[in-house]
Amino acid sequence: MITEEINSELLNRVTEVRKHIGRTPLFEIRNLVQKPGVRVFAKLEWQQLGGSVKARPAFEIIHDAILKGQLTEDNELLDASSGNTAIAYASIGAALGIPVNICLPENASDERKRILKAYGANVILTSKFGTTDEAQEKALELYNENPLKYFYADQYNNENNWKAHYNSTANEIIEQTNGEITHFVTGLGTTGSFSGTSKRLKEEIEEIKTISLQPDEALHGLEGWKHLETAKVPGIYDANIADENLHINTFEAIGLIPKISKNEGLLVSPSAAANLIGALEVARKIDKGTIVTIFPDNAEKYGELLKSIF
Ligand SMILES: Cc1ncc(COP(=O)(O)O)c(C=O)c1O
Repeated sequence: MITEEINSELLNRVTEVRKHIGRTPLFEIRNLVQKPGVRVFAKLEWQQLGGSVKARPAFEIIHDAILKGQLTEDNELLDASSGNTAIAYASIGAALGIPVNICLPENASDERKRILKAYGANVILTSKFGTTDEAQEKALELYNENPLKYFYADQYNNENNWKAHYNSTANEIIEQTNGEITHFVTGLGTTGSFSGTSKRLKEEIEEIKTISLQPDEALHGLEGWKHLETAKVPGIYDANIADENLHINTFEAIGLIPKISKNEGLLVSPSAAANLIGALEVARKIDKGTIVTIFPDNAEKYGELLKSIF
């Protein structure tokens, strides 16, 4: 009985937090795209709780685990992340009163670590040489040592990751473009954004083309992205969804950041700039269409990089 009361209190808090997830604006890139008949739009994903696209999967994963009784008052959330998912878990966890543990590669920026500390998350640092692949191994090891203490969220293999985008991002895009979207372009990290959004768009819009993006090299600076040829491939990745896959160069993406800020009034992250490079490449190849991409976060957490650019 007591557990039920606590759970209904928790579910009330979940309903409140849900109001601050998703429903992000769609912004037209007007000045960097000047091709009659072709329009490019970006979802401004930092405008939600935790400041990035990862609010959507983090919320869906937490919500589903609470509903299934996997995440309760008696255990804690555990996962591996390079940054944005960690911050989303930490922010949503703080709002819901859920303790959050994050395995994070030690070379994550001090800003990330400070933000996680600010939200009260417990951070377990893993080797900078092992990337998030090693952070995932550490999270699994901790879970296996103490399965009663943790709910292991496992964003790389958790179906609620892509479902979050299937249920929200895609529907918002259809509504915001009045169903006129012809191309969806975005980068692959856990692959949830691309897979979930593309699956739903393909069900609704027959002619749509979906284009996935990856870094052009194993060692890259596109925070949040994976070079799938050399990285551990996320369990939720479905190689059959993309109509095309493009490779994007880190330096070109970083070089576009000041052009986006000065021409469009948006100061964005490297992966957002990389997404725009992909969208512009698609724009060059077509005569008519409406291209939508995602700007996963803004440049707020990339202070060191900004210092080197401006
Ligand atoms: C900045 C940034 N860009 C892109 C992505 C990729 O999104 P997804 O994990 O949905 O593939 C992430 C994921 O963490 C991210 O943090």
